[in-house]
Amino acid sequence: MAVTTSSTSPDARTEQLSDIASAAGTPCYVYDAASIRAAYAALDGAFDGYPHAIHYALKANSSLAIVRLLHGLGSHADANSLGETDVAMRCGFRPDQIVFTGVGKSAAEIDRAVALGLLAINVESPGELDRIDQRAVAQGVRARVALRVNPDIDAKSHPHISTGLRSNKFGVPIDEAPGLFREMASRRGLLPVGAHVHIGSQITTLEPLTKAAEAVVALARDLRAEAIELQHLDMGGGLGISYDGSPVADPAEYVRALVAATRGSGLKVAIEPGRVLVGPAGVLLSRVVDVKQFPGAKRFIVLDAGMNELMRPALYNAYHRIEPLIRRDGAETPADIVGPICESTDAYARDRQFAPVEVGDLVVVRDVGAYGAVMGHTYLRRPLPPEVLIDGSTWRIIRRRQTLDELLALETE
Ligand code: LLP
Repeated sequence: MAVTTSSTSPDARTEQLSDIASAAGTPCYVYDAASIRAAYAALDGAFDGYPHAIHYALKANSSLAIVRLLHGLGSHADANSLGETDVAMRCGFRPDQIVFTGVGKSAAEIDRAVALGLLAINVESPGELDRIDQRAVAQGVRARVALRVNPDIDAKSHPHISTGLRSNKFGVPIDEAPGLFREMASRRGLLPVGAHVHIGSQITTLEPLTKAAEAVVALARDLRAEAIELQHLDMGGGLGISYDGSPVADPAEYVRALVAATRGSGLKVAIEPGRVLVGPAGVLLSRVVDVKQFPGAKRFIVLDAGMNELMRPALYNAYHRIEPLIRRDGAETPADIVGPICESTDAYARDRQFAPVEVGDLVVVRDVGAYGAVMGHTYLRRPLPPEVLIDGSTWRIIRRRQTLDELLALETE
């Protein structure tokens, strides 16, 4: 199920997934711990001793067991909300291992981020710089801050998940950065510790990522000439994975490119990977609830999972490989693989070559470990699905299925 060296044989894995479906029900998210360990080791090892920190981007998957697993591997954390900050701390991360990002931080978020003494608050604008300074002065502390720069580089990813162009809402234009660093250095409540860049997600070539890294390294060099000495360069996340099997940039090469760009400065490299660590580790297990063939037209395979459980196809037209867990005999023919939700956008795949299936068959949707369960919702009063973590030959439920009573618990009649 994953890109890794899991020792489980394909047959044993099929049996395991079918046991999980029986015990936990469908739809159900299933993650493979071995895949996450291997992905972390590939990134970490490629730094080859160069000073670095891997801040796992919790937004990709913040289930407690997954976050705790990454903490156990030596990861640090990237949080985008107070909820994620608290989850990170609950899973063992110290405040000085957490960077806090967010394009619009509320007063409450700034207050708490300052009070916690996080490794860095990534500053998104001159106004936010002011607000963080004010809150830090009021609390009698100096907040460690990094400035998020927008380098105007095209990540060549999906427009909905690109963030590094001037036309995107993120960060400050890089040419304004030196002035803002001077400003930060002059404030009583701020300690500028880093520069931050994140140009988008699901980036499959190294060139834009390397260019962004070179841009912040050049900025750090200019700042050094003005005696503003940074402690780290946060290169963000964004490295993509192969959803359809076509080649994408290799994680180790990505790290080596960042180190090559940074080495001359001697500064520590921070990265905020999400998808590349957990994406390939997850599958969504679902059952076929209906099959229908419109005469002379389409075959529809209706699953018990839809846009509630996995938003990516409906939201970004994202491609995910989908396979029957147990292949029946017979030729593959085109089918629309759709969910049960009353929206035409609720389709995981259209005109996809697919083997024959019958109602009750299990289907596996691949590479959903990142931005899958976390983006799920309860439209049509459908409770959130369970999540399971496989570790070798064992597995456990790390989130049970939500009950309708839990879903309604916030309401009064
Ligand atoms: N750092 C920052 C500041 C970010 O905004 C993000 C992702 C990351 C790190 C982690 O990026 P990654 O390594 O996972 O690419 N829901 C979309 C992806 C949105 C990504 C948002 N920011 C999807 O399903 O493709």
